[in-house]
Amino acid sequence: MEGRAVLVAGGAGYIGSHVALELVAGGRKVVVLDDLSTGRRDLVPADAVFIPGDMGDGALVRRILAEQACDSVMMFAGSIIVSESFQTPLPYWRNNVGAGFAFLDACIGAGVRHLVYSSTAAVYGSPDRLPIAEDAALRPISPYGRSKLALEWALADACSVGDTRFAALRYFNVAGADAMGRSGQVSPVASHLIKIAVEAAVGKRPGLSIYGEDYPTPDGTCIRDYIHVSDLAEAHVLALGHLERGGESLVANCGYGRGFSVREVLDAVQRVAGRKLAIDIGPRRRGDPPALVADSTLLQRILGWIPKRDDLDLIIRSALEWENRDL
Ligand code: UFG
Repeated sequence: MEGRAVLVAGGAGYIGSHVALELVAGGRKVVVLDDLSTGRRDLVPADAVFIPGDMGDGALVRRILAEQACDSVMMFAGSIIVSESFQTPLPYWRNNVGAGFAFLDACIGAGVRHLVYSSTAAVYGSPDRLPIAEDAALRPISPYGRSKLALEWALADACSVGDTRFAALRYFNVAGADAMGRSGQVSPVASHLIKIAVEAAVGKRPGLSIYGEDYPTPDGTCIRDYIHVSDLAEAHVLALGHLERGGESLVANCGYGRGFSVREVLDAVQRVAGRKLAIDIGPRRRGDPPALVADSTLLQRILGWIPKRDDLDLIIRSALEWENRDL
């Protein structure tokens, strides 16, 4: 089925565009559906078909699947900021669950065989132990995490009958940018640590705050597992290949299995950028677990995923290069 097209919902966004680049590089026909609410048209690979529109528009999705002959889909579109999801929970349910379900329903109805879903480490909440394996308790602590888990469950139920198989990839903290400068993190309002820190390093903002230094971690700041977006993109292509070869549905963590504290990340940004940042200490941010580190054995074992960019300085350097280019 390698000749068939892949529909990438949210392919003009940060992660979706990197995956679209990887799919195109693998010789696949790629169709990007994106409403450009947070994504950008110029991030869509030149060789992909671009269709502006809403993933929740079932009639549109059915038409695209038929006209473009897609039998595989990837779902990236959605709302992704944990702290924002506390202030405006309903758009999180509307975008991630309502629109996500309409998309899923249209795909299953149209006979799509393979579905790759962007899930998140936020489904675990504050885990009891690290690293986190996929069978850890699912106790999301934010509307964002709950909305992503709700659709993951809908997907699993939908694929428990019929011929559609899915891969739900639970991302840890995604950062960095394409080595060739074709895509990088874009967000109307940045919220992610490395993005904010490199914005400060190139002078786009005066400085930044550390959100809490009284966590039960060695230096008091939160620990996260930062994964390079291009390694994550490769995991998606492997997941799709696995499903196409008749592999079973799977749920897999995507991370490197080691964590860095906020302070360690900021030290690395200052070292790589060669300049001091103005950093103050702020209060904790709602919904931040103290530490999240992936056990990604399953991804490596089942998909043969081999991380190539497990290097914090390299991740930061690529993010800095993108930020400098994208002034
Ligand atoms: N942080 C700061 N200052 C900032 C921004 C972030 O101290 O200006 C801290 C946060 O408090 C947190 C850490 O940096 O401790 C990482 O925060 P991010 O916002 O970069 O990422 P999150 O861990 O909140 O969330 C990300 C994704 C989610 C995903 C989650 C899972 O946004 O989609 O990782 O780990 F669910």
